[in-house]
Amino acid sequence: MSTNPRGQGRKYYSLSQRVDQISPSGIRKFFDLLASIEGVISLGVGEPDFATPWHICEVAIESLGKGYTMYTSNLGMPELRQELSRYLKANYNLEYDADSELLITVGVSEALDLAMRAILDPGDEIIMPDPCYVSYDPCVVLAGGIPIMVPTNEENSFEIGAADIEARITSRTKAILIGYPANPTGAVMSRDKLAEIAKVAQRHRLLVISDEIYAKLVYGVEHTCFATLPRMKEKTVLLGGFSKAYAMTGWRIGYAAAPREIIAAMTKIHQYTMMCAPTMGQVAAIEALRAGEESAAEMVKDYNRRRLIMVKGLCDIGLSCFEPKGAFYAFPSIKCTGMTSEEFAERLLTEEKVAVVPGSAFGEYGEGYVRCCYATSLAEIEEALARMKRFVDKYRKG
Ligand SMILES: Cc1ncc(COP(=O)(O)O)c(C=O)c1O
Repeated sequence: MSTNPRGQGRKYYSLSQRVDQISPSGIRKFFDLLASIEGVISLGVGEPDFATPWHICEVAIESLGKGYTMYTSNLGMPELRQELSRYLKANYNLEYDADSELLITVGVSEALDLAMRAILDPGDEIIMPDPCYVSYDPCVVLAGGIPIMVPTNEENSFEIGAADIEARITSRTKAILIGYPANPTGAVMSRDKLAEIAKVAQRHRLLVISDEIYAKLVYGVEHTCFATLPRMKEKTVLLGGFSKAYAMTGWRIGYAAAPREIIAAMTKIHQYTMMCAPTMGQVAAIEALRAGEESAAEMVKDYNRRRLIMVKGLCDIGLSCFEPKGAFYAFPSIKCTGMTSEEFAERLLTEEKVAVVPGSAFGEYGEGYVRCCYATSLAEIEEALARMKRFVDKYRKG
């Protein structure tokens, strides 16, 4: 702590109140602890255990020799935007102009931040589900907005209800932020239920920001791209990325597809803060879009096998588990132990060396649950389940 050099006793600097308002990520805190313990099985970090498919790495490596080591256009490489435009047309029959309606970002993380900063004025409200991805609430707060949480629970399959959203709309509401398939619950919403949200959005002239980073990771159900709902393309900011489906978390590439005015506003912020997304990552993303489908589908098949084993294993232990239909997370209830989710996660880590994330890291309504990421080997999942059984048997109440 530093004081004013003129000795007036005042603190030399003060931090932004907005930053003071947010807490460090509950996930990261855990991983710092985990790094100090040996022999831990991690069901913690939400990232694929697969390496990026080699053909994608190879194209990126070759690009260095070809001189792709400089800035790209602020919007992202034209070839990538064109490829993405083709991809969105082929997969969703949506037409986005590659020069004005698409922006390549540093992961969906940056796209989320830009979207919030582009639309929010101080005091504006964004409605979102609770529990939800750890960044949603802080991104809104850092952009000067107010997150308005809609509780979701196991009984409503962790789906955000249109009526619950409508009940929270005020004159300050700017947008609805959703992310299905969901982190941390694995919930996927049906087209019909999303259409009800679309109707509420239209009735109240709200934007919908739809984080679809897990779009490809669905099991036995279909993913609905929110922008494909009737008359919603021009009212939706679609966020997508390469981290999860193509096992490319470290390449840091995501995108936003939205009406041109919104993309222009997001680009203004992006050009002054980021300049552009990493060039090598963009080259890799082009290859992923052109030739990555097969490897992505293989990984999804594998996640599905692990999902079934993880969910059955948790239920057998007696941790009741909502069946996740998407992403790569199971979200079992730990209420039978009488512990808080943070206590459960800390003790499981220190006593049995299994890392899970406390549900409370994802919001108030995540309490009573923990997030178990099954993007890890079957052998590790099975060993983690055996350790968790020992732990739960020891502490189960009643
Ligand atoms: C729901 C959700 N959105 C966005 C992100 C950020 O992804 P990216 O690596 O594209 O920044 C994550 C990462 O875990 C996520 O789970």
